[in-house]
Amino acid sequence: MKIICISASNILHSGTESTSLKICRKLEEILSNDGAHCYTIDLRQYPGMSPCIGCGRCYETRRCAHDRDFNRLYEELISADGVIFVSPHYAPIPARLCMLLEKMEEIAFLHWWRDSGYCSEVCHKPAAVISHGGGSDWALKSYRAMVNDTIANALDTIQFRTVPYDEEWSTGISLPVEKAAEGGGIFPSQSYDWEAADVKLLVYMRKFLTYAKAKSIDKRENP
Ligand SMILES: Cc1cc2nc3c(=O)[nH]c(=O)nc-3n(C[C@H](O)[C@H](O)[C@H](O)COP(=O)(O)O)c2cc1C
Repeated sequence: MKIICISASNILHSGTESTSLKICRKLEEILSNDGAHCYTIDLRQYPGMSPCIGCGRCYETRRCAHDRDFNRLYEELISADGVIFVSPHYAPIPARLCMLLEKMEEIAFLHWWRDSGYCSEVCHKPAAVISHGGGSDWALKSYRAMVNDTIANALDTIQFRTVPYDEEWSTGISLPVEKAAEGGGIFPSQSYDWEAADVKLLVYMRKFLTYAKAKSIDKRENP
């Protein structure tokens, strides 16, 4: 079973210390302990991605005529049995993740518009959404609406299936910043309660894998 984690941060200065990347490394460990082959795609490695300009040429080819980085990434996602989106809160989501979602959505939409029975290249593929950022309880709930729901809504159009965490968190989980402090530079330094995060990630990944495995059996029996 092949699972891809998308690290959606665009922040260059966080480098290998990136929180998004750190969460992805944790997911790799959890999922490989459960027998999955899991690897991370860092969106900072795809600097050539551009926004969808609505030229419509993807209707013929199901690939973007202007964006090699997007096409490379899309092929990877098509080949996976499941995809996990790890996204910090920006305004509300990182621009490169937005470009990825826009282009997959346009390809799916143009076909669905002509054929409502159209099944996209990622049809029914399991997805998980994990947001992170700072703030109080109030902010955490608003992250769900701004980050998790935004991503899950786009994934729904593309025909991914976002795996719920529970009834309240039906579009994934959010990991809150525990403390923001003066970082010595122009940015605050943010720290997380990694013990609590580990438990939440483990529970969510168990649910995600159970769903992904069931889907994979279903695909084998009904290709
Ligand atoms: C445009 C923009 C808006 C941001 N807004 C928030 C925010 O509202 N709350 C927050 O905790 N962090 C915010 N951040 C910081 C990021 O959440 C986070 O610290 C950073 O992306 C982490 O990157 P990393 O995952 O590579 O460590 C923002 C960053 C950018 C670039």
